[in-house]
Formats: sequence, C-alpha cells, structure tokens
Amino acid sequence: MISTNCSNKSQLTAVRGLLSPGHDILETVTESPGRVLYVIVCAAGPAVEAGRLVAMAQDEGWIVQIVATPSALDFIDVPALERQTGRPVRSRYRKPSEPKPPRADAIIVAPATYNTINKFAQGIADTYALGVLAEAPGLGIPVVVLPFVNSALASRTAFRRSVAELRADGVRVLFGPGQYEPHPPSAAADRFDAYPWKRALTELTRPGD
Ligand SMILES: Cc1cc2nc3c(=O)[nH]c(=O)nc-3n(C[C@H](O)[C@H](O)[C@H](O)COP(=O)(O)O)c2cc1C
Repeated sequence: MISTNCSNKSQLTAVRGLLSPGHDILETVTESPGRVLYVIVCAAGPAVEAGRLVAMAQDEGWIVQIVATPSALDFIDVPALERQTGRPVRSRYRKPSEPKPPRADAIIVAPATYNTINKFAQGIADTYALGVLAEAPGLGIPVVVLPFVNSALASRTAFRRSVAELRADGVRVLFGPGQYEPHPPSAAADRFDAYPWKRALTELTRPGD
C-alpha cells in the first residue's frame, strides 16, 4: 500500500482503491493535505524524466498528482511515479461512482505536446488531462504550459494561434526566447537534459502580468 505524506491522520476523509494496470495500490485521499500540484504529462520525449519535476515540486512542499494523457503512458514509468508521489497516476476520467480527487491548486503541463496545446486552446476535453485543463482557467487555477515541440510544429499558424489564445485566457505558456525554444526536427533527445522543468515551477510563484 502506498499512502500520502499526510502527517495528520485525522485529516483522512476517504480511502479508495485506484488501480493502475497491474498494480494494486490503495490510495489514501485527504481533504486538505497541503497544496496540490497537478503535473500533466503528455506524450513527448522528456516525459520519461517527469520525476525530476516531481522531486523539485516536493522539495517546495507541493503534493504532486501526476495526470498522464493516454498516449503518455507509453513514455513514463507509472509504478516509479506512483512510488515517488504516493498517488496513482491518473489518465482517465473517474467513474461516476468514484469519489472526486482533490482539486488542483496549480497545474503544470510538461512536456506539453503540439496535440494537447492545440486541443486545450480549442476547448476540447476528450482526455482526462484535457478535461482538467478545460475547467482550470474558469476556476482560477494557475496553469503553466511548458511545450516540447520541434521547429516544424512550432512554425504552424495553428500552434502560434493556440499559444496566443491560451495566453489571452491567462494561461502561462513558456514559449519563446528565454523560455522554451523549439528544437530542430530529429534533435529532440539533445534537449532532454536542458528541458527547463524548474522554470515551470518558478513561473507558478511569479507575480501575474
Ligand atoms: C517517440 C515519439 C516522440 C514524440 N515526441 C513528440 C514531441 O516531442 N512533441 C510533440 O508535440 N509530439 C511528439 N510526439 C507525438 C505525440 O506523441 C502525439 O501527437 C500524441 O498524439 C500526443 O498525445 P497527447 O497530446 O495526448 O499526449 C512523439 C511521438 C513519439 C512516438
């Protein structure tokens, strides 16, 4: 069994089983265990290192909930992330009979794909990750998007428009000089080490524009 880091057991309000494929993990859900950061992981190369962001966020006192797109499940080590966060990786909408997970206090989308960025901007909610994102601006939840796209994808009008539209909705998209700059096609792996996970985290505490 993996439990949360909750120090005050009297805060425990629900216990439920949440199963990732092949893993028998009983999640302990708390109402107010601390500030909850949702890390939404999409299907791009740096996803394999999402644990780096988890560690940085935990160092800052965040409770981290990983939400993976269905495609991202092929890129990440689900059991390792569940051990690290003490929480199940979520990738699908809950069943109506299942309790609601704690709401996010903040959200980081990293790595954010071309696909998810464009769908988020268009208001599409056909994955659990996109469903969480669809509501976030309206709920006043801060959202930071850290793309990982190559220059061919980033040059598309659709992508540029999506970035502009998300920013107009108050979403902080870390794209451009001094933020994430697209890599040349077929050079993704060269950028993994320098992928600015920490920049996404510090953006959450930066005063608004
Ligand atoms: C090995 C591999 C690497 C990929 N890298 C990227 C990438 O760096 N950026 C990107 O936007 N899409 C990348 N893709 C394509 C996405 O995985 C694909 O568009 C997928 O539908 C995205 O789903 P999601 O946005 O729901 O995670 C990659 C696909 C594969 C198979």
